[in-house]
Order: sequence, then C-alpha cells, then structure tokens
Amino acid sequence: MKLIDGKAIANQIKAEIAAEVKKLQEQKGRTPHLAAILVGNDPASETYVANKEKSCKEVGMSSSVYKMPADITQEKLLETIEFINKDDEIDGLIVQLPVPKHIDVQKVIESIDPKKDVDGFHPVNVGRMTLGQDCYLPATPFGISMLLERYNIDTQGKNCVVVGRSNIVGTPMSILLSRNNPLANATVTLCHSKTKNLTEVCKSADILIAAIGRCEMITADYVREGATVIDVGMHRVEDKSRKSGFRLKGDVKFDEVSPLCEYITPVPGGVGPMTIVGLIMNTLKAFKGEIYK
Ligand code: GUN
Repeated sequence: MKLIDGKAIANQIKAEIAAEVKKLQEQKGRTPHLAAILVGNDPASETYVANKEKSCKEVGMSSSVYKMPADITQEKLLETIEFINKDDEIDGLIVQLPVPKHIDVQKVIESIDPKKDVDGFHPVNVGRMTLGQDCYLPATPFGISMLLERYNIDTQGKNCVVVGRSNIVGTPMSILLSRNNPLANATVTLCHSKTKNLTEVCKSADILIAAIGRCEMITADYVREGATVIDVGMHRVEDKSRKSGFRLKGDVKFDEVSPLCEYITPVPGGVGPMTIVGLIMNTLKAFKGEIYK
C-alpha cells in the first residue's frame, strides 16, 4: 500500500505557482486577487475560507473575504456579487457553499461572471468542461486529477467508479475522467443513491472515488485488492482529546481498506489540500486571462 501524500504534492505545486506569481507580478505590477463571500457562521465553512486565504498568502496572491450575516437578503448578496464582478482588481470570486436555505444557490452561482468563476460552478464553465473546452475546472476534481498525474497513476482504459453525484465533486469528476485525453480516457461509472448492487460495482473499480458524504461508508467489502482509492469525504468526529474537540474522517474506513489498496489518500492530508490548489490554479489562470481572452 502506498499513501498518496496530498499535502506534499500541494506544497510542491504551490511553490511552482508562487514562482510564477512572482514573475507575473513584476510584469503586470499587481498580484492575482481572490475574493470569497462567506454567508453565516458555519464553523467548517469558516475554516475552509480561512485556509483558502492562507494559501493565497503562501503563493503571493492577495485575497479578501466578504462576511455576511446568515439572514442577508438574496438581493443584497447578488448586489455584492455584481459589485465584485465589476472590480477590475479582483480576478476570482467564490461564494462559499452551502448558503442559507432562503437563498437560491443556482441564482447566486449564475450571477457570478463566468470569467471570475474560479470554482467552475457556473453553467458556462460546466458546459465548457463537458465539451472538453478550456474552462475553470471545479477545484476538487481538478485537484484529484493533478494528484493522479503527479503519482503517475494511469487512468486510460481503467474502470473508474465515482460514488456520489454532487454538482461540486462526483458529477464533474465523472466527466473529467471520461474525457478524451491522456490524463483521462477512463471507463467511468457514476453511482448514486439509486444504484443497484453498489458493493459489486465498487468492487469492479481499478480507481474508486468516494464522494458520498457519509462517514466511513466504504468498507473493505467495497474494494478489490490492488485498487486505488481516493477519499473525498471530510467529517468532523468528536474527539475530546484534541484541542479542537474533533478529528477528521473520510468516506472510507481507512484502517480496513488501506491494506487492500495499491494507492490510497488519507483524510486529512489527501484530497483536501489539493482542492485548494485547484482553486489557486484557477485564480492564476483568471489573472493571466488564459481561458476567456
Ligand atoms: N463548499 C464545499 N466545497 C466547496 C467548494 O469547492 N467551493 C465552494 N465555494 N464552496 C464549497
């Protein structure tokens, strides 16, 4: 079993990005800028946004966070997005999800200028991704693709099973892996709550991507010997022995699955750090005007 060290790869890529940012800064006279809108005070979302800010700093990018109360009106939120859309000094804009229930999330996503949509959630970017055109790829699938590439894990002709069909991870991951390019070309199965014989389907996977959002659901029964397992799950489990009061677990029952695997990502330190790299990479692309010329 080989552990996929997402943290190490993330640091390596961040160093490469930092070098490029430094060079571009000299040419352009400013740094790339990421803006994040955070609505409400969900502790996990606050941590994610703080980590995104920290990573921007590490690579020499600037960032700003627009904190809004949980009871903000949709109108006010859309106004703020419009304001940021028009700000030439801001290259990328994300609205941290989830947003409170009274807000129409799709409306929010569609109000972000696709040129600044570094989350890759806008239908224009999703459409371009599906057609294999240049676009901002959603950060988590993008991060996973980079991880597979850096570890030379071949996907061509492999059976890839993605469990979970969210718009943020499962669905875009299945599209990316099935694209016609040397870093994809997989035969992909996308599993969800109505999938029959889920255990057997997962067992057929050369590469199993767990993005279900259910703590430790993937046990040894779901994994064939020699498979590669990518765990996208991130669950806070109470742990009074820790200062934070919790520890993180994934969608995969690591202790029993890992002995079966050729490669596996841990939680934490696997996919999580790479998700931020995907976002930073997209912000750099936005700054360079690489996608929408
Ligand atoms: N919530 C969970 N993952 C993400 C993400 O990738 N982007 C945003 N904006 N919110 C999230």
